[in-house]
Amino acid sequence: MMLIVQTFMLTAVASLAVAQAPVWGQCGGTGWTGATTCAAGSVCTVSNQYYSQCIPSSSAPTSTASAPHTTTTASSPPSSTSVPTGGSGMQATTTRYFDGLEGACGCGSNNAMFSWQAGSAGFYTAAASQAIFDQANKSWCGAGCGLCFQLTSTGNAPCQGCGTGGAAGQSIIAMVTNLCPNNGNAQWCPAVGGKNQYGFSYHFDIMSNGNFIWDNAVVDFKQVACPSNAMTDFSQCVCASGA
Ligand SMILES: *[C@@H]1O[C@H](CO)[C@@H](O)[C@H](O)[C@H]1NC(C)=O
Repeated sequence: MMLIVQTFMLTAVASLAVAQAPVWGQCGGTGWTGATTCAAGSVCTVSNQYYSQCIPSSSAPTSTASAPHTTTTASSPPSSTSVPTGGSGMQATTTRYFDGLEGACGCGSNNAMFSWQAGSAGFYTAAASQAIFDQANKSWCGAGCGLCFQLTSTGNAPCQGCGTGGAAGQSIIAMVTNLCPNNGNAQWCPAVGGKNQYGFSYHFDIMSNGNFIWDNAVVDFKQVACPSNAMTDFSQCVCASGA
């Protein structure tokens, strides 16, 4: 019994001893449960949202000692892997294709597409131009895989003789499951930072076998949350696991 009490007291003393972080030690940051005050002669200084450190007073930059978390960019994804979200008058050209294949997000098996890719489940799938598929030029499992866009027809085709457009104002939801590479498709599918033959920076080649509600219409596009059945379907794809 005596021994247990003694052990407890030693532990209590030991934890008092670390109540102050040593010079150069960590003293804060998201998830930090240790000491948040610093040894004499040092100041707890925010490096970023995840790490604060005891810096000797003479070298501590006083202006950042109480830097608000809003100055950090640590939790933002690198811009090179994000995709344009559309909206605000952003427009794209559209075409239609059907190849029955898995596509560049791995949505199929033995290279044959999953049947839901053909548009029977209340949403369409599309091969997006490179900037929407992946701004860093990946050609497999791009950052755009599994993202959904609302495409609203302007009613107009991008040129005379390259489609009839259709009724303005019709909308569909298209999930990105494939890449339309610029190489070999420059007429429609621009490279990152480039434009297609009709002056547009973005393109959606919509998977549809048969009649489609418009004919190569120019669309307003914006990223939207995917319908829940689309998210469930996408979870089958190779790229859903972050491959
Ligand atoms: C992607 O390709 C475009 C066009 O070829 C090029 O301008 C750009 O620098 C490339 N981006 C990266 C991250 O390699």
